[in-house]
Amino acid sequence: MKLKNRLSLAVTVVSAATLLTSFLTVYVLVRRDETRDLDLALAAQAHALAQIADAKNPGRPAVLDGVAEVPESLRPTQRYIAVYDERGALLSATMNFASEVPSFESLGASTALPTEGVPVDLDVNGKALRGVTVPVGNGGAALLYAASRRTVDDDASFLHRTLGVLFLSATVATALFSRWLGGRLAGDVHAIARVAREVERGNLEARVGGGAHGSAETRALAADLDHMIEHLGALVAAQRLFVSHAAHELRSPLSTLRGELQLALRRPRDAAGYQRTIEEALVDVEALSRLSEDLLALARVQAPHSQGSDVMAVGDIVADALRLARGPAEARRVSLEQAPETTSTNGPLLVRGDRGEIIRALRNLVDNAVAHGPAESPVLTTITRRDASVEIAVIDRGPGVAKEDEPHIFEPFYRGTRDRGDDRPGAGLGLAIARGIARSLGGDVWLDVAHQSGARFVLSLPAITDADA
Ligand SMILES: Nc1ncnc2c1ncn2[C@@H]1O[C@H](COP(=O)(O)OP(=O)(O)OP(=O)(O)O)[C@@H](O)[C@H]1O
Ligand SMILES: [Mg+2]
Repeated sequence: MKLKNRLSLAVTVVSAATLLTSFLTVYVLVRRDETRDLDLALAAQAHALAQIADAKNPGRPAVLDGVAEVPESLRPTQRYIAVYDERGALLSATMNFASEVPSFESLGASTALPTEGVPVDLDVNGKALRGVTVPVGNGGAALLYAASRRTVDDDASFLHRTLGVLFLSATVATALFSRWLGGRLAGDVHAIARVAREVERGNLEARVGGGAHGSAETRALAADLDHMIEHLGALVAAQRLFVSHAAHELRSPLSTLRGELQLALRRPRDAAGYQRTIEEALVDVEALSRLSEDLLALARVQAPHSQGSDVMAVGDIVADALRLARGPAEARRVSLEQAPETTSTNGPLLVRGDRGEIIRALRNLVDNAVAHGPAESPVLTTITRRDASVEIAVIDRGPGVAKEDEPHIFEPFYRGTRDRGDDRPGAGLGLAIARGIARSLGGDVWLDVAHQSGARFVLSLPAITDADA
């Protein structure tokens, strides 16, 4: 069943059942109260009449039409009165009973009558009566005092009709309203489902926007969905950009390699010539394999992955990273220096993570310092404990990062304005990888913009204590 119909049916059934229950309760209570009021009035008048009848003829009370003087509010109403002796035999009755005076047994009363009387419903000559049987005198005689119960029945039937009309109109109004409301809510659900289908087909421009207006909840759901699609769109765009950058970076060393190999095939040469060609090709292949390794590393750190749990001394990692960077550093006659740790605690500073990844992050910073700093100048590394972190700084004496490059250098494939035209190798992945690794371990990498003369990059990692280790 459709949401609209189901909602409308459920609301209508529940509200109809509630209305019916409350209307029935009102009807029963009002009818009972009115009957009790009538019974009280009849009993009061019956007692007054019983006293008069007993006083006039003690022991053998009798009534005749119009004889009894009763102070009453029911005066315009015809009264039906009958008197029974202590055995229940009829002594006298008003004429209006005609031949249908009810027997004492039919009154549902015993000879030991309670003072407040016993009420009874009667049918006399086709008329519905309400009567009360009360004791007369002390001899066990009884007096039936009855009157038409039309006022009570009329009230009850008026109430019945009014409540019936109210019930019908309220049920119809509820059904119409709930149908309209169901339509609005279902409209929102349809709008949201339509957008979800569009996204499934690949349209990341689809939005629910103002299409949902039935309730605050569906509006919030629509806004969440729009937000999610926007986020998905940004992710897909970033992925596409990544792939196109990667393809671009792979293309240039590949085309150089192909050109060199084609030329070698076209122009035969001596063994030394081939040797040179193979060596040049090897340089390109090494650049390609470095690039593919960097791409893989970046993809790995950007995806959720388990962090290693090696515990290691920071000084050892820095020493390892510097040893690995020794080749390029020697080529530029750059000296790699490691300052002693600055810490207030005893023992070496420790960090936790994947040893290979932390060394890779640090190595990228040292490689940059070697490549971007001037030849024959030192690159200094320092290790400092700051609050709950260990900070490893890599400092060079180069020109530093240009102001316009500062906001972008951590983006994948971004190379500084000074480096782009340069034939210096690099794809602009080193800092993105270093930051990705540090962040996956709860740390970070940043450029110290306050540092003067040269660049100072800081790799920060959560420090662990001996107890943690
Ligand atoms: N020590 C530094 N001094 C000056 N500029 C730097 C330094 N380190 C990084 N940069 C700037 O930041 C840019 C991005 O650095 P990143 O390490 O990500 O890429 P890359 O070194 O150019 O290439 P790759 O690391 O992929 O070989 C560099 O192109 C350079 O402009
Ligand atoms: Mg680099």
